[in-house]
Amino acid sequence: MGGMSTDRLSVRFEVNGEPVTVYVPPLRRLSSVLRDDLRLTGTKVGCDAGDCGACTVILDGQAVCSCLVPASRAEGTSIRTVEGLANGTLSALQASFLAHGAAQCGICTPGLLVSAAALLEMNAAPSEEQVQDALGGVLCRCTGYRKIISAVMGARWYDNPHGTLPSGLPAISPSRGEICSFAASPSPSTLEIGEAIDDGRISPLEGEMAGRPEGGACSIRATFRMPEAGHAVGASPVRLDGIPKVLGTEAYGADSFPSDALFVLVVRSPHHHAHFTFGDLETFVETHSGIAAVFTAADIPGENRFGAIPAFADQPALAEGIARFRGEAVALIAGEREAIEALDPSEFPINWEPLPHYLEIDEAAADDAQKLHSDRIGNVLTKGFVERGDPESALERATVTASQRIETSYVEHAYIEPEAGFARMEGETLVITACTQAPYLDRDDTGKVLGLLPERVRIVPTATGGGFGSKLDVSLQPLIGLLALKTGRPAALAYSRQESMMSTTKRHPARMEATIGTDAEGRITGMVFSGDFNTGAYASWGPTVANRVPVHACGPYRTPNYRALARAIHTHGPISGAFRGFGVPQATIMLETLYDELAGKLGMDRLEFRLRNALRDGDQTATGQVLNSGVGILACLEALKPRWQEALEEADAFNTRHSGVKRGVGVASCWYGCGNTSLPNPSTMRIGIAPDCRVVLHQGAVDIGQGSNTVIAQIAADALGLPLDRFRLRSADTGITPDAGKTSASRQTFVSGKAAEKAARSLREKILRFANVSGSASLSLEAGMLLIGEGEAVRRIELANLPQDEHGLVFAAEETYDPPTTPLDSKGQGSPYAVYGWGAQIAELEVDLALGTVRLLRITAAHDVGRAINPLLAEGQIEGGIAQGIGMALMEEYVPGRTENLHDYLIPTIGDVPPIDTILVEVPDPEGPFGAKGLGEHVLIPTAPAILNAIRHATGVLVTKMPATPSRVLAALRKKERADPSPLRGGWSIP
Ligand code: FES
Repeated sequence: MGGMSTDRLSVRFEVNGEPVTVYVPPLRRLSSVLRDDLRLTGTKVGCDAGDCGACTVILDGQAVCSCLVPASRAEGTSIRTVEGLANGTLSALQASFLAHGAAQCGICTPGLLVSAAALLEMNAAPSEEQVQDALGGVLCRCTGYRKIISAVMGARWYDNPHGTLPSGLPAISPSRGEICSFAASPSPSTLEIGEAIDDGRISPLEGEMAGRPEGGACSIRATFRMPEAGHAVGASPVRLDGIPKVLGTEAYGADSFPSDALFVLVVRSPHHHAHFTFGDLETFVETHSGIAAVFTAADIPGENRFGAIPAFADQPALAEGIARFRGEAVALIAGEREAIEALDPSEFPINWEPLPHYLEIDEAAADDAQKLHSDRIGNVLTKGFVERGDPESALERATVTASQRIETSYVEHAYIEPEAGFARMEGETLVITACTQAPYLDRDDTGKVLGLLPERVRIVPTATGGGFGSKLDVSLQPLIGLLALKTGRPAALAYSRQESMMSTTKRHPARMEATIGTDAEGRITGMVFSGDFNTGAYASWGPTVANRVPVHACGPYRTPNYRALARAIHTHGPISGAFRGFGVPQATIMLETLYDELAGKLGMDRLEFRLRNALRDGDQTATGQVLNSGVGILACLEALKPRWQEALEEADAFNTRHSGVKRGVGVASCWYGCGNTSLPNPSTMRIGIAPDCRVVLHQGAVDIGQGSNTVIAQIAADALGLPLDRFRLRSADTGITPDAGKTSASRQTFVSGKAAEKAARSLREKILRFANVSGSASLSLEAGMLLIGEGEAVRRIELANLPQDEHGLVFAAEETYDPPTTPLDSKGQGSPYAVYGWGAQIAELEVDLALGTVRLLRITAAHDVGRAINPLLAEGQIEGGIAQGIGMALMEEYVPGRTENLHDYLIPTIGDVPPIDTILVEVPDPEGPFGAKGLGEHVLIPTAPAILNAIRHATGVLVTKMPATPSRVLAALRKKERADPSPLRGGWSIP
């Protein structure tokens, strides 16, 4: 043990082979020592409670959560962090992660890599089960784990730099069977990974090394085989932002705090609804050493109201005397880091007076309920409505009808990176560096709250460790902005897991009911739907959910007579906002379970029933929109047919042999309009050529892991006619990149991709016009020259001789794309989206009749992406969305005050996601770039209803409250037994 003082300890240990000594409080978490004292920020902190595994390191050969290890325990140990894996060259494991697309947002990647490295050191060829065991403590919210499992199992094949891979393993190139070579320069400040192979197709990609070594950033280079000019679309090159993710050098919101920053403690309401008053704040500051200031709503210089939809903006950055939900921010305490960490929040002078509250929709929507917002009519925030034909008459005349009520719960986004960032003043400009999905919305909301014009606020997004919709809303931006503005010092804040879960948005809980009718041939004749969505205390994206649900609640099916009403209702619950699907996943559970009921009553095969009703090219939707082409649902359902038949036969055979466990198969579909509903939704991209032969893409669409950095560059490369390896990205920064809109609603590949395509084509035209050659000419870049070939002739343009614009570009173009939509009229008729995506999934599972537990066996997913710009990334989106759908179906239920951590709030682990077979369907949409459609939201939508339908197929019972936990499955089984005590045969059908 090293030398001791009263409150600090010198601790000596080894990190990545280097001896270190730190002088720290003995109980400081090892994760904090690594990150804050040694600046090894590759080790991430997601929960500080050992639940998420993001902080996993190898300590004396064992993978451990470093947040659970006190600094004193590190004495004399040898520790390896993610920074120690590369050792001058990418490890085979890191190369395998890149090749497999196993890192999306990348925040979990260091913990997974380290856990896997510990496993592979003991067992170079682990089985799937062994990988699941070893990585079971590390959560990933993006990938669905399947590519991670493949990457770890296949890692050993990436050890030989010039080796040939077994078939089936992805190379880091579009041509399977080859991997690039890795070599390294040992210099720690200019660490290089890569060895050029001069075949004209290999070139370096760059990533920034942040946080290593101390205080410095050094570049790291790696070479990978990239697609040739004109072949980027449809290829699966290594993701352009992938290298820092596997090195652990990617800088997220909490990874680059300035050393002179003030830290912030946010005082939050412990009550669902309460009045509050402050005590003597001045004395509090004076009597607490290291505390610099306290700020309340009275200090806010602008309009203390923000909201994603300006017409509904209602949320104060700091509450004004009344808190409307548990976790609402009411005051900020700013101070030196150690003073903030040591502060006992109970000493803060605030008096609470709890008030009656409504957490349930029914109470809040009652006529006599007290209003949450005095300026609104009752607690109904807004309604969405679509009506077509005469649904009542159609239902009266229907041969068969089915009705049901379904209820869903709050679902937490549970990204592994809690909100984090810092703010500082640069002259008159407030600069906020934080994780986000929507930099321009952040800029506008923060400026409004702080009384600053938008041009005085600059948002610099860090890497974002998952968002899924919640990071569309501002969270800490106005808070740290206020501190920086008021104190002149940088202000840093990283939410704890609990405050992230308490204070940020959730998926809307829904109470829905619907009736659907068919004719004797099984054609849908009419449908009515109504749904109440608990939107919580403030508006956030509630209006979007209320408007989107009625458009989508009939699914991708012909529904000639239809009425759908959705209401967003205020309660004192958590704020419900955007979450992958904006209410459509809930409505699809309602619809697709009724479709099974109808098929059962008609005695029809459930897949055939859906095929019969699926929309076709030329059909009208329920909003009256004519879909002339690009309707892919039929192709998706057809693609599932082979597995459907096999799965049903296997389930039948299984069920005849087993009595305690029954097997079931379910199917469900989705459709989803890409982008805003009937609202402007523009994206702008800028692209140019620099004198050094780089193609610079100003790509302001935030990549939160879904891959827009890579996909949009692929689109631009082929539209321009230059190879992808010439591209360099200038990623989102409101001070530099044009506004590409927010990363939401599956719009970036479609909308920003289209803007990039337009900009690249425009740039190409400019170049060709400059050279006075025809449109078929080829472009290439070489040794400071732009080469334009037409037939045998080659025109050379010396780039250095051309004037540069303000961005340092010698040729440049900027284009905007805004999808053509029309407003919905009073009956919800119009064309709300320019492009829709389509999909369908089969779930196969077993239900233990004694325990009520569900074991998933396989998901088969067919999704129409129009054109798979990057098939590997598309697969990754599908697998990740399915994992979130599994969570929604079987385990995720956020209860304010009870599940505010990742221990009590369960999300799928690596053992919960079964094998997933992905079928990429390509029915091009003429509006999309190269025919592409959006995908991000679609992929989650069918999973939960397919699972519910499979549970009913196995057991005959429909669980009507989500999630279908074992206790709810059991309760449904017991109820059925009471009504019909005969033994379950499995293979549910309605005679
Ligand atoms: Fe695993 Fe994002 S890639 S949490």
